[in-house]
Amino acid sequence: MTQQQWNSVDDYFTGLLTPHDDALTAALRDSDEAGLPHINVAPNQGKLLQLLAQIQGARRILEIGTLGGYSTIWLGRALPEDGHLVTLEYSPEHASVARGNLARAGLDKLAEVRVGPALDSLTALAAEHPEPFDLVFIDADKANNPHYVEWALELTRPGSLIVLDNVVRGGAVTDGTSTDASVRGTRAALELMANHPKLSATALQTVGTKGYDGFALARVSD
Ligand code: SAH
Ligand code: DHB
Ligand code: MG
Repeated sequence: MTQQQWNSVDDYFTGLLTPHDDALTAALRDSDEAGLPHINVAPNQGKLLQLLAQIQGARRILEIGTLGGYSTIWLGRALPEDGHLVTLEYSPEHASVARGNLARAGLDKLAEVRVGPALDSLTALAAEHPEPFDLVFIDADKANNPHYVEWALELTRPGSLIVLDNVVRGGAVTDGTSTDASVRGTRAALELMANHPKLSATALQTVGTKGYDGFALARVSD
């Protein structure tokens, strides 16, 4: 199987099931024009996030790693009118592009972009004693993945869902001797999901327009 085959199948699925509207198309265009890297979720993955949030009946969503707000739009569209989404982004430039994209998508009332290192933003967020989040999407610097899973546990309730992106690392996730910070962080997060008494988790490998990758899902229990 080749990347070309994965692309054509993704194009078929995406064209049929998850076509873009103007706000999504413009979000990617403006992200590209601003020089943001092309590391947003694919359309069919964005729709998966949206479906998971809807199945979850999510009213409150936390995202760690905003980029240009493409995944944020998919997630934000799952929320009811009085729902709330907090998305955390290190880069002020990325956050600014994301705010524009969210406003054009009509989500600026629902979605709040907080700028800074996510670990700082999470400390500040927790100090506000927010209502628990129903879904947390972790998609930022992979070295901090175990810390993000710990914070997700702090900020959720029994029944909440944690989604962790990019868990395959080109297959290197199996290498327990790896010195790569992203591999180590991802392995530590998966081990936490495996061993934590309040988490029930699985992980899946994926192929598609983003190449070979995967994600983990964990449900918070009592
Ligand atoms: N979720 C987005 C993609 C996020 S890419 C989408 O699918 O559309 C990862 C983002 O995490 C980048 O914008 C990067 O600037 C941000 N990031 C990296 N390190 C971070 C940190 N320590 N705190 C917050 N954001 C961080
Ligand atoms: C990268 C980050 C992502 O979140 C992603 O989905 C793909 C790639 C990266 O940093 O290369
Ligand atoms: Mg990602």
